[in-house]
Formats: sequence, C-alpha cells, structure tokens
Amino acid sequence: MNFENILFEENNHIGYITINRPNKLNALNKATIAELNEAFESAREDHDIKVIILSGSGEKAFVAGADISEFAEFSPKEGRRLAAEGQEKLFDVVANFPKPVIAAVNGFALGGGLELAMAAHFRIASDNAKMGLPEVSLGVIPGYGGTQRLPQLVGKGRAMEMIMTAGMIDAQQALDYQLVNYVTAPEDLIPLAEKLAGKIMNNSMVAISAAIRAVNANYEVGVNGFEVEIDGFGSSFGTEDFKEGTSAFLNKRKANFPGE
Ligand code: COA
Repeated sequence: MNFENILFEENNHIGYITINRPNKLNALNKATIAELNEAFESAREDHDIKVIILSGSGEKAFVAGADISEFAEFSPKEGRRLAAEGQEKLFDVVANFPKPVIAAVNGFALGGGLELAMAAHFRIASDNAKMGLPEVSLGVIPGYGGTQRLPQLVGKGRAMEMIMTAGMIDAQQALDYQLVNYVTAPEDLIPLAEKLAGKIMNNSMVAISAAIRAVNANYEVGVNGFEVEIDGFGSSFGTEDFKEGTSAFLNKRKANFPGE
C-alpha cells in the first residue's frame, strides 16, 4: 500500500499507524482520513496484526486537529458532511475496532487529534503532550465525537470547561483527569505502548474483541450492555481460545491461544 500522509507497518504482531504530516503538525485532512480508513481496514483483515499503536510523526504533535485550511470556506451542509463522513470513516471505525487500539499521544492532540485519541481504546502520553478541544475558538464545535467522548472520559464538568475555554491541558493534568492512563518521557512512549501491547497479546484476542464490544455497548444509546456482555460471555464458550485457556490453567501451563 502506498500512503502519502501516514506510515503503516507491522512488527511483532503490532500494527503501527502513524500520521505523517509533521510540517502541518499531522493535521487531519480528507486524504489523511481516507488513508487512515484504508490502513485500519487492512489491519482488520491482517491476521498478523493483533494490536494497533496509533501515533503521530515528529516530536511536536500527535495530531493538531482537523485541517483548518480545508474547511474554512465550507457551508453548513458541507460542514455537516465533513463531521458525518469523518465519524463514519475513521472515528467510529477506531472506537469499534475489534483489535485493541492504543493511542500514543506524543505532543499536541487538539480538536480532531484529541478526538482521534479519545476514539482509541485507551491513551498514553509523553510528558510534552498538550490536549484540548479548541474548536469554539474557531467558531465551530467539536465534530468528530468530542462532545460525546470527552464527558465520558473526564466527566461532564471538566469536559464543559475544556470545551468552553478552548484551553489546553498538559500531560500531567490529562493523567489526573484519567484522560490518559500513563505519562512517560517522549523516548519511552512507544516502548511503553509496546509493553502494554505485549501484555495484551498474552491473552485471547477473540475474548478481547468480545470485551471491546461489551464495554462499548455501555455507551450506545438504546443498547443494553449487560445483554451484550451475556451474549459475548456465552459465545466465548464455543471458541478454541476458551478450550485452550481453561485447559492451560487446569494443567498449570501457559496458554497458547489459537485465536479462533
Ligand atoms: N490545520 C491546518 N494546519 C495546521 C493545523 C491545523 N489544525 N495545526 C497546525 N497547522 C500548520 C500551521 O498552519 C503551520 O503551517 P505553515 O508552516 O505552513 O504555516 C504548521 O502546521 C506548524 O504550525 P504552527 O502554528 O506554526 O506551530 P506553533 O508551534 O506555532 O503552534 C499550535 C502549534 C498547535 C498551537 C498551532 O499550530 C495551532 O493552534 N493549531 C491549530 C489547533 C486547532 O485549533 N485545532 C483544532 C482544529 S478544529
């Protein structure tokens, strides 16, 4: 696959998806969103990839937002389409991805950048990271899920304050807000993501997919998450991974999950 705006590679069962427009602080333009969609769809089918690490190129930014130069002249109709298509092609894809997606936030994560990190299943950050939803300073509101996911992660009051002030919080405050799970030195960020991916990959990826679905169900209007959990729990009993996991435990050996 030939990408111009992202890097996509696989190593040791980790898919590294890196937004690669460092001169524009990795701002998300239409082409980048299309390439990210293509990379995620390819990673979905690639049996070698078990976990995704999503990050930004360069030392300065994860993603500094949607590309402002692309939408400055948009009409309301075009604005609506921008948000709807972006959510469908990228943000919902990431949030509902059947394999774990770890966002490694290596600098500015603003607007669509923070929204992308929030769509990931969890986030870690380097100590130089800065996060915020500055959209109202441009006369617009977050359009890639920010008004929904930020309150879910940090609580309504903090989300309201961040959105209304358009301010940035630093990595330490993001940790205090539970917006990120860990803060590290920049050079330790990807190694930490890899360490976490390694711990994840010791487990049944089939069960993890079902767990992602069940956790996400809690945030879907009209869906009973407990029912989704019961279904996922029950289905697990029909998998080879379940046979292997239980048999390994009972035989006091390490499980080697077949992944089916
Ligand atoms: N869209 C388009 N271009 C962007 C961008 C965005 N969201 N964020 C940064 N860039 C571009 C800048 O225009 C600049 O391009 P240029 O060199 O061709 O002029 C380049 O990236 C570097 O950014 P610059 O502003 O010079 O860096 P800085 O260190 O002075 O400031 C930020 C960094 C993140 C504070 C600043 O770039 C910024 O405020 N970006 C916009 C953030 C935002 O509002 N995002 C939400 C969009 S909905």
